[in-house]
Amino acid sequence: MSTASTGSDSDRVDGSETAASRNGALLEVRNLKKYFPVHRGTFIRRISGHVHAVDDVTFKVNPGETLGLVGESGCGKSTTGYSLMHIEEPTSGEVFFEGHDIVQLSVQERRSARRRMQMIFQDPYGSLNPRMTVGQIIEEPLIVHNLYESKADRLSRTQELLELVGLAPYHAARYPHEFSGGQRQRIATARALAVTPTFIVCDEPVSALDVSIQAQIINLLQDLQQDFGVAYLFIAHDLKVVRHISDRVAVMYLGKIVETTVSDELYDRPLHPYTRALLSAVPLPDPDLERKRERIILPGDVPSPINPPSGCNFHPRCPWAQERCSQELPQLETVAPGHEVACHFWKEIEDGGGVPPVSAAIHATSTTPTASPE
Ligand SMILES: Nc1ncnc2c1ncn2[C@@H]1O[C@H](COP(=O)(O)OP(=O)(O)OP(=O)(O)O)[C@@H](O)[C@H]1O
Ligand code: SF4
Ligand SMILES: [Mg+2]
Repeated sequence: MSTASTGSDSDRVDGSETAASRNGALLEVRNLKKYFPVHRGTFIRRISGHVHAVDDVTFKVNPGETLGLVGESGCGKSTTGYSLMHIEEPTSGEVFFEGHDIVQLSVQERRSARRRMQMIFQDPYGSLNPRMTVGQIIEEPLIVHNLYESKADRLSRTQELLELVGLAPYHAARYPHEFSGGQRQRIATARALAVTPTFIVCDEPVSALDVSIQAQIINLLQDLQQDFGVAYLFIAHDLKVVRHISDRVAVMYLGKIVETTVSDELYDRPLHPYTRALLSAVPLPDPDLERKRERIILPGDVPSPINPPSGCNFHPRCPWAQERCSQELPQLETVAPGHEVACHFWKEIEDGGGVPPVSAAIHATSTTPTASPE
């Protein structure tokens, strides 16, 4: 099924740029920060500190690709999505979409750019207005962006979208509470697709669903990408799901990206100690390999993002940490084409076979690692 024609040159940011942009990237995020103020006091409220939810994050998404974003709960994945979409105003940093800094755009241009950037939220139930029918929910962005002149055209487009995501036209008359979690995720996807975006932030779109339903939604997103060339920032906890859907993966820890590379390379050659720990917690299908391999146990909990550790913020939990780590912030460095890692000692760790010091490694069967994102 084809999408209705909804765009025109006047919808482009300046009439000349399309998906092609700076360095070929569709979206480029540079040095993005989002600090939330923490208040103290009941009567006189004062700012006593800041949650460093997103702390100097840089990455890009190419047209038609999927970038997976993984990391433990609270590391800043959703806030990254909200900030780049300007749903949360970033503290600082730049977001280029189709080659344009979206902060510099006029109101009209930003609105137009926002049409092509959509978000599927972590909680599809919370993001669907319970007082609106599904038809109204999907039709709303068509009205907001003034894409179809007649009600009949909007209805026809709504029904087309419902079918596209595997629902039936008669579902348009129902309310969100009448649907299952998987169906609600389909409705959220139809709403996001209504305005023919080129980029969608998918914030944990399947984490609340049963495994069989997860597969259906993932397949749907992949089919839509194939048909319409839409790019995704796919946020998830589950490394298996991320590997399946992503072309590249970025690993996040306490507000920072610590490693980025193409999907297979990340799983075959993880270099950052945190990535190694995350992957060592994913069960292997081969029971022999699973029994023999070592898991990396990270001591302690994720530190508070209000006072993140100095230097490399992973150093209090890193089995390979040395004195330099608490003093000097490691920058993301390119270690192979398309593979970046932020660790002072990635080379030494790799040359040592990635085996952590004895105290930090335990046999796979003994206990559950604290680093597992799932
Ligand atoms: N509005 C807010 N005010 C203050 N702190 C916030 C706000 N939103 C998020 N945070 C904090 O920012 C940090 C990052 O939160 P975020 O929701 O982005 O994490 P996440 O990686 O998406 O986690 P999860 O996997 O659980 O969804 C957390 O410490 C969170 O408590
Ligand atoms: S810089 Fe140091 S603390 Fe940070 S990941 Fe590398 S070895 Fe570990
Ligand atoms: Mg989240």
